[in-house]
Amino acid sequence: MADAPDPTLYDKVVNLCKVRGFVFPSAEIYGGFRSTYDYGPLGVLALRNVKQAWWRSMVQLRDDVVGLDAAILSPPDVWGASGHLTNFTDPMVDCRSCKERWRADQIGDTCPNCGSTDLTEPRAFHLMFKTHAGPIEDEGHVAYLRPETAQGMFTDFASVQRATRKRPPFGIAQIGKAFRNEITTHNFIFRTREFEVMELEYFVPPAEADQWFEHWLDARFQWHLEYGIKPDHLRTRFHDPDELSHYSARTADIEFLFPWGWGELEGVANRTDFDLKAHAAASGEALDYFDPSTNERYVPYVIEPALGATRSLMAFLLSAYDEDEVGGERRTVLRLDWRLAPYQVAVLPLSKKPELEATSREVLALVQPHFMCDYDTTQSIGRRYRRQDEVGTPFGITVDHDTMRDGTVTLRDRDTMTQVRVPEDRLVDELRARIG
Ligand code: GAP
Repeated sequence: MADAPDPTLYDKVVNLCKVRGFVFPSAEIYGGFRSTYDYGPLGVLALRNVKQAWWRSMVQLRDDVVGLDAAILSPPDVWGASGHLTNFTDPMVDCRSCKERWRADQIGDTCPNCGSTDLTEPRAFHLMFKTHAGPIEDEGHVAYLRPETAQGMFTDFASVQRATRKRPPFGIAQIGKAFRNEITTHNFIFRTREFEVMELEYFVPPAEADQWFEHWLDARFQWHLEYGIKPDHLRTRFHDPDELSHYSARTADIEFLFPWGWGELEGVANRTDFDLKAHAAASGEALDYFDPSTNERYVPYVIEPALGATRSLMAFLLSAYDEDEVGGERRTVLRLDWRLAPYQVAVLPLSKKPELEATSREVLALVQPHFMCDYDTTQSIGRRYRRQDEVGTPFGITVDHDTMRDGTVTLRDRDTMTQVRVPEDRLVDELRARIG
């Protein structure tokens, strides 16, 4: 059983994100803008690392998956065929008392704002952002911002398959922005109107769909554990038939224990041949596969693991946040996996003395090509260690007067806080050995 979520954890992580430059409310000098967020100097590094970790396991380490970066703007035809124009809605209710709007399926029959039960009947609210492509704002120029990246993988299916000569089972992976006009946004970057998503569309012979669904559900579950989510904070929940998206025959959510309770982290769906058939019918283009070994032509089924990059970052930050005591003082430490930490290494001259500065810069130049490094000369060395712990930097390198004499530096470990002397010329190897 997982521990009950710490009620203060959420505020601590949100505050750390803001103060240390992970995530800022967007347009904050104008009072913020409707739950949009900017990823600051550390956030952009950590978010890149989350995306890189996903790309590595989904594309780099496989020979059956290729990448794609499709357009964000797309014509209504795409969303008509995919079913989103009709089905991509959430049920919305208004509170007649305080006039707030809510997602009906999230609030039961009581307004969370004022406690009134005087709510309107639920009605469908469409979640796609609509705009116009070109200088004329009429119906003929309507375009939509994509609410998922998946459709680009379906509309480009034949082009990718021809270009790469891949045969099912094979996949197309994509990372990119998606936009949903969510009725209610809440919980920091958990649910926002603009977010980044990492999706794989894995095309399989229909008879193999169940087996690949199990494969991906298991592989994706393991990925979260590998990068630092605690096993008792992760679980799988299968959707009831009435919960399934319009395209799905089977969906399982990988859920994370957020501070407010269990919530969806990633979805794995069997989208069947719904999308390819729908686009083939609407476009008139064949979106199928001819298998020369059996002389059969078929429309592949699609297994789709889909994970929000920004939501995943939030789960990693919540999992990594820790506090302990060092020398009678409280220490905040982000125990991020080194592959996700914004900086892997901090180079810290012991003091601001000019002779140390030159040697420190030489040490920085040694490690910088291999690791993302911070270089910090402000405040006392103890304070600087704390600052690095707080943003999850796994290793600190301190340069002192002995460095100038014997060419050794102090290597400090974030988690154990042990310090060892290491010769400069062995530093990169030593760091590599430590991170495996
Ligand atoms: N193509 C399938 C699809 O879009 P989804 O469950 O609606 O499925 C996939 O979204 C993932 O994207 C979710 O599991 C979640 O991690 C993330 N996500 C969805 N809506 C989001 C939002 N408004 N803000 C942040 N992340 C979101």
